[in-house]
Amino acid sequence: MIHARVIKVKNPEEMGKVAADLFEALIQTKPACVLGLATGSSPLPLYRELVERCKAGKIDFSRVRSANLDEYKGLSGDHPQSYRYFMQENLFNHVNIKPENTIVPNGQTEDVAAMCQAYEKQIEEWGGVDLQLLGIGHDGHIGFNEPTDHFPAMTHEVELEEITRQANKRFFNSIDEVPTAAYTMGIGTVMAARKVVLVATGADKKEILYKTLCGPVTPQVPASILQFHPDVTIICDEAAYPL
Ligand code: GLP
Repeated sequence: MIHARVIKVKNPEEMGKVAADLFEALIQTKPACVLGLATGSSPLPLYRELVERCKAGKIDFSRVRSANLDEYKGLSGDHPQSYRYFMQENLFNHVNIKPENTIVPNGQTEDVAAMCQAYEKQIEEWGGVDLQLLGIGHDGHIGFNEPTDHFPAMTHEVELEEITRQANKRFFNSIDEVPTAAYTMGIGTVMAARKVVLVATGADKKEILYKTLCGPVTPQVPASILQFHPDVTIICDEAAYPL
């Protein structure tokens, strides 16, 4: 059983505010902090809140650095379904973060091993991730760490599960357009973050949240490794609340 804080909120908007409070507190105490950022629908209310607070002068991103969890293999940063594009549209273009202080794995790399190593090195040079934001996939994936027989340590290439491609096809014209592979921080990269905040909403996330919090720690449910992280906060709405 996890020792995480589990915060139940009424709706996605409240989730955004509660999560934004954690980000605001960190950025105020450590203006040059390193954020680990995530894509998907779940973080959107948080990003809206961060944009509002930045515009209101409450949060200053001028010294913040950010490293995203993952990117689709093959997509360029200006492809509307790439995660780089998602971050620009939903956060980076609307706050005063410096472009050179934001990194997302390069989906079009020609040298996968070098790109993955450089990604880890950049995070290390920045001093490591202070706060890692996570969503969760229906199969328990975090980033794009799919269920497998081990916990991958570092940023690496992964084949996407059918359940994940199906869940993400809503953003593409058809399932055929959904990439079959991606680059993702490893479980080790995520676990090295000083603080982890996982956001989830909707009844369809309840069962996997239960397995994450209360099930055995197994690479078949990648998020279950969070039971071994010393500082995890899970923010979920009533429908997703698993306890
Ligand atoms: C994608 C992302 C994950 C994200 C997951 C859940 O697969 N790679 O990082 O957590 O989707 O997304 P959503 O929040 O839309 O349910």
